[in-house]
Amino acid sequence: MDYSIETAAPETLQYDCIIVGVYQDMQLSPSAIALNDSTRGLITAIMSHGDLSGKNGETVLINFVPDSQIERILVVGLGKKEILSQKNYRKALAAAIAGLKKTPIQSAACCLAECDVAKADLQWKTRQIVEVFNDAVYQFVHLKSDKETESKLQKVAVTASEDQRSLAEAGLAQGQAIAAAVDLTKFLADLPGNVCTPTYLAEQAVEIGKKHDKITVHVLEESDMKELGMGSLLSVSRGSRQPPKLITLEYHGGDKNSKPIVLIGKGLTFDAGGISLKPGLGMDEMKYDMCGGAAVLATVQAAAQLQLPLNVVGLVPASENLPDGNANKPGDIVTSLSGKTIEVLNTDAEGRLILCDTLTYAERYHPDVVIDLATLTGACLVALGRVPSGLLGNDDGLCNDLIAAGESASDSLWRLPLWEEYQELLKSNFADMANIGGKDAGTITAACFLSRFAENFRWAHLDIAGTAWRTGPTKGATGRPVPLLCQYLISRSAQA
Ligand code: BES
Ligand code: MN
Ligand code: ZN
Repeated sequence: MDYSIETAAPETLQYDCIIVGVYQDMQLSPSAIALNDSTRGLITAIMSHGDLSGKNGETVLINFVPDSQIERILVVGLGKKEILSQKNYRKALAAAIAGLKKTPIQSAACCLAECDVAKADLQWKTRQIVEVFNDAVYQFVHLKSDKETESKLQKVAVTASEDQRSLAEAGLAQGQAIAAAVDLTKFLADLPGNVCTPTYLAEQAVEIGKKHDKITVHVLEESDMKELGMGSLLSVSRGSRQPPKLITLEYHGGDKNSKPIVLIGKGLTFDAGGISLKPGLGMDEMKYDMCGGAAVLATVQAAAQLQLPLNVVGLVPASENLPDGNANKPGDIVTSLSGKTIEVLNTDAEGRLILCDTLTYAERYHPDVVIDLATLTGACLVALGRVPSGLLGNDDGLCNDLIAAGESASDSLWRLPLWEEYQELLKSNFADMANIGGKDAGTITAACFLSRFAENFRWAHLDIAGTAWRTGPTKGATGRPVPLLCQYLISRSAQA
C-alpha cells in the first residue's frame, strides 16, 4: 500500500473515497463540516434521518454525491466528542477500514487525524491510521491459486494542515516501518511449517541484511553450536530432520561504544511436543511457535528502516520439535552452554531449552538489556487470555518501560511476579534443575527457568502465547508484539 500526507482542503481531494468523522449529538469534525457544506448538507441530512447517530464504530458509505467532484464519502462515528480515547480512536479506524473492504475503492483520503484524541498528538494519530489500515488489509494469499485479496485499496492519504506537515510525516514514517514489520511477521508466521523451516528463517534474515547496510547477519550452524557447547538447544533439534540455526542480526545504528539492546525470539518452526507428543486437535497452530523469532527479525528491520540511533542485536534460535528415535526423552539430562544441567521431564517444554542457551550466548554482546519473546506457555492463555502478553523480568525499570511502550502502541503487557518462592518448583533430584515446574503457575515457572540464565544482565521476558495469533474462523498471525517493541526502541532513541 502507498501512504502519503495530503494538505489540500477535503472538498478538493481527488480520491475514490474521503473518510471523515462525526460525533454523537450531531457534532461534525472540521472536515465533515467542509464536506457537508460543499454537498448542501448531505451528512447532516443522513444524521437527522437517523441513519447515523455518531456512535463510535458506526459507518455510512455515501457512494454517490450529486453535482460534485467527490466520488464517495465514508462517514465514521467517533462517539462522544469530549472523550475520544486512544482505544476508541483505533476502534473507529478499524470500523473505517472495514467499511472500505469488499468495495471497489482503490484510493482513500483519511481526514481522521484532525480529531482530538486523549493524550495523543498528530504524529501518533497519523501512525495509527497507517498501522490499523495496513493490519486490516493483510491477507495470506501466497499459497492460494486465486491471489486476489478482499481489499482493493492501493493508496491512502492522511490529511493534515500544512503547518503540521512535518509531524504528520514523522508519524507516517513510523507507521510505515511498523506496518511493514508487522506484515513481515504475519507472513512468516502464517507460512506452514513445511515451508518456514529454520533454514528458511535464516534465509529471510540474510535477505533483510542485504537490504540494509547497517545490518550484519550471521547464522550459526549445528556444528558451530556443538563447538560452543549448546547442549540444551541441540537436544531439541536432534529429533528433527531440519538442521537448527541460531540466527544473529546486528543493527549498528548507534555509537560504537553504546551497549546493544538484545532481542531474542523463539523460532520453533513447528512444535509437535516431541516424545511428549501434543494432542492432535489444533496442532496445526504450532506452526506459530516461531512468532517470537519472526517478530525479532521484523523489529530489527524496522529499527534500520527508521534509522534509529541505537545498537540492536536480534538472536533467533530456530528448530523444530518432533518425536523421533533420536529425540529428547523424558528424564534425559542435557548440559546447557552455561554448564548448568537440565532434566528434561517434558519434551514439550522445549522453548526454554532453546532460549536458555541463547540467553547465555547473549552475554558476549555485553547487552544494555535483553528482551526475549516467546510463545512459551499455554498457561499464559489460561492466566491472561488473548488480550495482553505476559511480562516477567528481573528489572523494574525495564519492565515499566515495556509496559508504557505497550500502552502507547496498543499492544499491552501484564506483569506477573517472578518471586523466589516459585524457583523451588524447578527442583530436580538428578540435575541442576528440571525443565518443568508442575501444573501450577506454568507461565511463572517457565520464566523462572529462563531467569537462571539471565542473571548477568537486565532482562525481560514476554510470553506471547495468547497474543501472537488468533484462533478460530479468523485464524492468523497478529504481528504482536512488533508494535510494542518498535515503540520501546523509538522511546529509547529519544533518550539516547
Ligand atoms: N509452544 C508451546 C506453548 C503454547 C501452547 C503456546 C499452546 C500457545 C498455545 C510450548 O512449547 C509448550 O508446549 N509448552 C508447554 C509447557 C508444559 C509442558 C510445561 C505447555 O504450555 O503445555
Ligand atoms: Mn512445546
Ligand atoms: Zn513450543
